[in-house]
Amino acid sequence: MNKRINIAIDGPAGAGKSTVARKVADHLTFLYIDTGAMYRALTFKAIENEVDLEDGPALKDLLDTTVIDLQVGESEQLVLVDHTDVTTDIRSSHVTNNVSFVARQSEVREEMVKRQKLLADRGGVVMDGRDIGTHVLPKSELKVFLIASVEERASRRYKELIENGIEADYDQIKDEIALRDKRDTEREVAPLVKASDAIEIDTTTMSISDVVDHILQLAKERA
Ligand code: DC
Repeated sequence: MNKRINIAIDGPAGAGKSTVARKVADHLTFLYIDTGAMYRALTFKAIENEVDLEDGPALKDLLDTTVIDLQVGESEQLVLVDHTDVTTDIRSSHVTNNVSFVARQSEVREEMVKRQKLLADRGGVVMDGRDIGTHVLPKSELKVFLIASVEERASRRYKELIENGIEADYDQIKDEIALRDKRDTEREVAPLVKASDAIEIDTTTMSISDVVDHILQLAKERA
């Protein structure tokens, strides 16, 4: 690809964004940036430091002294907070169920968006999140909005946990995903919404490689 475009991938929890975004980035030798991991990293540190998860100014103060690093690992992106690897910690259910409180604070979002824009400054980035096409990279050459039914998303998450030997309850996962959808779409600041010029892909019945191929084709047309 001769032009280092930026690709924004948004959508609800469990629609396959991170898996797809990482593979698209690998194919194009672009940088993959998981913005959800950045909100998770701050949530993890706030819990560790007993900072009120609904206190925007206190969270912003904490973020100002926090270094969040996203590094390329062998099979996944590594997330470092203040130089400590927290890749696994930020996926705990405690962080997962609390991250939307942190992500809805405007002071936090403002700083995160600033950092994310900087990361994409030179192009060649695949960034996934909820507000990438609408707020972070509104001028990106390709915007994709991935969706899937809540049942399919819950079932993917359930299988992933079982395969990793972690006990799981399908109905509970489904309820948690539905609750996160509600919080993400109904929040006041930068809610999850499809950008008017984004291409929507329903992944409910598609394989990962089909979704990746589709996005690569779109990227080729835009470059
Ligand atoms: O994609 P994820 O599940 O790791 O995201 C974690 C949370 O962060 C999710 O509740 C939505 C929020 N988020 C956000 O508000 N904006 C982003 N750009 C990315 C994630």
